[in-house]
Amino acid sequence: MGSVQGLSSMGAELAAEIERAGEIIRAGGLVAAPTETVYGLAADAFNDHALAAIYAAKGRPQFNPLIVHFPSLSAAAAEVEMSPLAAEFAAAFWPGPLTLVLRRKPTSRISKLASAGLDTLAVRVPAHPVFQALLSAAGTPLAAPSANPSGAVSPTSAAHVRAGLADRVALILDGGPSSVGVESTIVKVDDDKAVLLRPGGAPRAALEAVAGALVSPQAIDRSAPKIEAPGMLESHYAPRARVRLDADAPHVDEAYLAFGPAPAEARFYLNLSAKGDLTEAAANLFAHLHTLDKMCAENGLTGLAVAPVPSDGLGEAIRDRLARAAAPRTG
Ligand code: TXA
Ligand code: MG
Repeated sequence: MGSVQGLSSMGAELAAEIERAGEIIRAGGLVAAPTETVYGLAADAFNDHALAAIYAAKGRPQFNPLIVHFPSLSAAAAEVEMSPLAAEFAAAFWPGPLTLVLRRKPTSRISKLASAGLDTLAVRVPAHPVFQALLSAAGTPLAAPSANPSGAVSPTSAAHVRAGLADRVALILDGGPSSVGVESTIVKVDDDKAVLLRPGGAPRAALEAVAGALVSPQAIDRSAPKIEAPGMLESHYAPRARVRLDADAPHVDEAYLAFGPAPAEARFYLNLSAKGDLTEAAANLFAHLHTLDKMCAENGLTGLAVAPVPSDGLGEAIRDRLARAAAPRTG
């Protein structure tokens, strides 16, 4: 515990808010806080009641487990079995946008609600200085899903959190826009096998440079009854407007999300990256979806057309989120 360090550049006001956030968490409350990927809705990972409150605030199905955030690799290793391959991933990517799904240690006191009935736990060491300061102020690992109502677009700013969860969270820490902009990559490590459960902020090629080829979730049994990846919830990250993918130009009743040069006929549009840069596109993705959804509602447009985005690097995660935004709604 102790005082928050390394935040002198962020100002005394934020440091004081982080201290207050730590107290709220120790008392079993919820705090929204920035990570480098997206904003998270954080609670004490040892506290069953606090985790139940996360599920309630998000309106989240009970079977969808939570990621637990730690200040360091050694803190995470106290709760899960770190195989040599898992340790290699952790050394290469932590702190950063990678989540590892590993077997729980039998001695782990992390709330069973974080695992939602599985014998595994998703663990991550985030890089964001505000989230790290919150971990230190709270003095406990933090379970944190993205801070949005279940199924809605993820938040990459404090304003997004306020718009989506408003009165359902005691305090929102504002750390500015999330720099990565898409959620962490989730890899399940079974001994020497690594399965990519969710593409995200750590690109596949970077992971494969460490571990060799990753097994795709498609190669696993897709009809398995238990949720193994968020990908099994088809409609996710959904704006209210209907979404049409790989569109070279918008129809008259559509707003447009461009990538690279925007087509002349686009009137209501935003650009993920005018220069076609995938890192910039990932950082803009959710903010643009939030804004375009509002633009549709205000201008009587019924849909949102999206430019083709390449699938290399961060493009894999961007295309994954866009495909879910476009999937038939499950209600
Ligand atoms: O970047 C991120 O990962 C953000 C920030 C806040 O850390 N968090 C995030 O959490 O995206 P969430 O809850 O929105 O998505 C995490 C996904 C869940 O949808 C769940 O399906 C999967 O991780 N997950 C969690 N625990 C798991 C487990 N034990 N096995 C398989 N999948 C798991
Ligand atoms: Mg989420």
